[in-house]
Amino acid sequence: MKRSLVLAVFICWGLNAFGQAAQNEKIHIIPEPVSVDIDTGYFSLNSETKILYDAASAESIAQMFQNQVKKSSGFDLDIKRRGSGRKNSISLQTNFVYDSTLGDEGYILDVTPDKIVISANDAHGLFYGVQSLKQLFPPQIESDTVWHHQKWMAKCVHIMDYAQFQWRGLMLDVSRHFFTVDEVKKYIDEMAKYKYNVFHWHLTDDQGWRMEIKGLPKLTEVGAWRIPSYFPFQQETKPKPGQDKSYGGYYTQEEVKEVIAYAKKRFVTIVPEIDVPGHSLALISAYPNLSCTQEQYPIYPGDAPDSVANVLCVANDYTWKILDTIFTQVAELFPSEYIHVGGDEANRSFWSKHAKDIALMEKEGIENPAELQSYFEKKLEKIVLSKGKKLIGWDEIVEGGLAPEAAVMSWRGMEGGIHAAEMGHHVVMAPWGKTYLSQIQGDPLIEPKGPPRSNTLKEIYTGTHIVPDGVNSDMIMGGEACLWTEYVSSFRHAQYMTWPRAFALSEVFWGNRTSWKDFVRRTEANLKYLAAAEVKYAPSMYDPVIDAEKKNGKLMVVLDTKIPHLDIYY
Ligand code: ACM
Repeated sequence: MKRSLVLAVFICWGLNAFGQAAQNEKIHIIPEPVSVDIDTGYFSLNSETKILYDAASAESIAQMFQNQVKKSSGFDLDIKRRGSGRKNSISLQTNFVYDSTLGDEGYILDVTPDKIVISANDAHGLFYGVQSLKQLFPPQIESDTVWHHQKWMAKCVHIMDYAQFQWRGLMLDVSRHFFTVDEVKKYIDEMAKYKYNVFHWHLTDDQGWRMEIKGLPKLTEVGAWRIPSYFPFQQETKPKPGQDKSYGGYYTQEEVKEVIAYAKKRFVTIVPEIDVPGHSLALISAYPNLSCTQEQYPIYPGDAPDSVANVLCVANDYTWKILDTIFTQVAELFPSEYIHVGGDEANRSFWSKHAKDIALMEKEGIENPAELQSYFEKKLEKIVLSKGKKLIGWDEIVEGGLAPEAAVMSWRGMEGGIHAAEMGHHVVMAPWGKTYLSQIQGDPLIEPKGPPRSNTLKEIYTGTHIVPDGVNSDMIMGGEACLWTEYVSSFRHAQYMTWPRAFALSEVFWGNRTSWKDFVRRTEANLKYLAAAEVKYAPSMYDPVIDAEKKNGKLMVVLDTKIPHLDIYY
């Protein structure tokens, strides 16, 4: 009944044609800047416009802008290292005196009919000034093909802007489904445009190990490959002996370096995740001695049954030898301050059944498996600290006592994060019911298959708060949007799940949210920039909201929309 009704409902949305939207007095930057003063008039970019920058650190930002303008307009703009002030120029200017309000990521953007000046304390802020500036030009600026008859006008404005939170993360799970180096770069490119600054690379899980580790060849020879899956996650069958393990892939260390350098140019720090002691089946299938059972397991395309020991044996010296090798190389490769060590959903019951782990618990006076995980995390933290890095892990690492300097990523809700913050640990908030982009984003009858509970754009925008009442805000580093890919087998689907919900979270994490109505207006404008950049996005905010109820022998059907100005036809 419901399905046939859904099929009969058509919704019209008033998207303007992709071309010339009439410029009105409003601008549509996402995330919303801290302060905006709109002036009369426009700056007009033409083939004579010059790009100027005054510090070597801004050169690559100027070049990236020049390159994008060339692709979209065909103008090969002159680029010079010198101070601002010239007519028909766009200047990237570094402040003489550090402006503490702006910090490293803030900027001032002045657009006048004569010239554009972006000033900042640091190249990071200049980069963000350029991202905001691009959103003042027509969306075609993001196109990689030339728009010959386009007028390149930017509204005159004075913007002062800075970030509230230092950690504005986006996580991509490349284990459940593999994404190529080029796809990962494109993902980083898009997130940087919306001022995300942490790419959390979930590199390992039960369904695949994705990074070359020298001296452990089986990780990528065995751990990176599984049978292909043709069924939705959780309906997968057990791999049979001899079945073709043709699905997978991994990144060589040279490719990892290439992605890190690409992200650095866009002021994105990559935080790698090696998920242990649970979610380790790919690691265990490569090196079976690491598990409590020592059995050789296949990699399942979906979740393995509970009888499969996908958790590392804590009491085994071999576990620590392998972990030391892995974390040494991860620390050497990634410049980030933090390494993410996972820690979620470890099936601790294997430890309570395994003689070696039981003996270790007795020897160390450990009372339960949660405390044994805490022992594991503390020992792992010593390795991570010895490599000059800090440890961050999912909120399960709080149970049983937290490693002394560990930071916590709170995913099961806010409680783990609150508890950790009260204990004086830094926290990143990623509560699944608000920030998981893997959840579907609307009606399950309309959306591609995924976990049944939805996180809609509206719920995310209006309902996500990352500093709980009563918690010291200094302990909350920021927030993170997470895309798990159990159900997401293609890059276009990954983009569909990410945008525009990542607009909403970019604004929550940047810290200057406006109203839902205003956000919808700016989102509609920004979808055109995604289209110009050939990024797939979800139009789910236009989905009807349908409620059907049988009352007194009658069927009551309520049709509604998530955004205000839509007509419903049925
Ligand atoms: C998680 O979603 N298991 C961190």
